[in-house]
Order: sequence, then C-alpha cells, then structure tokens
Amino acid sequence: MIGPHRIQIVGGGEFSCGEGERVLLAMERGGSSDIGVGCRGGGCGICRIRVVDGDYRTGKMSTAKISETEREAGFALACRVFPVSDLLIEI
Ligand code: FES
Repeated sequence: MIGPHRIQIVGGGEFSCGEGERVLLAMERGGSSDIGVGCRGGGCGICRIRVVDGDYRTGKMSTAKISETEREAGFALACRVFPVSDLLIEI
C-alpha cells in the first residue's frame, strides 16, 4: 500500500503521512504539536512514541534512547518513523 497513510493518536487527533515521510514532520504539518520536537535526527529522544498498531520502518535511532527491547515493544522516535500502513500511535 502506498501512502498517504492515516495516523491516529490514541486519545487524540489524526493526520495523514506519506510513505516516504517522517511521522514527526507530518504531525507538525498537521498541527498536532502535542509531541516534543528536538533534533529531528534520531538523537535526542524527545519525540519518542509507541506504535500500538500498524506497520512502519525506521531510520537510524540512538540505541541510548530506544533499546532493542523497547523497539520490539513498539517504541520508536517519531522523527525516524516512516509508515508502511495506517498507524495507531501513543504519544
Ligand atoms: S526529535 Fe530528536 S530524536 Fe526525534
């Protein structure tokens, strides 16, 4: 499935995000500014989210901010998350 995908925030709003677009930037564009925005480069850990449902791929993320175990549990840095399907996320 090629985007744009619908990203829903648990208990919050929703926005659309293209397949090659970072969830964090799409969220900012959509005006959902209830997430912290820092380096936008996978290093500071401020934009941490948990993907509850859906498929995604990630770019390089600091393992100091997201451990392997956390990653398996769905935690990710929104500035490094690219949706592959519609997503349900927790912020
Ligand atoms: S904004 Fe710094 S890790 Fe995402």
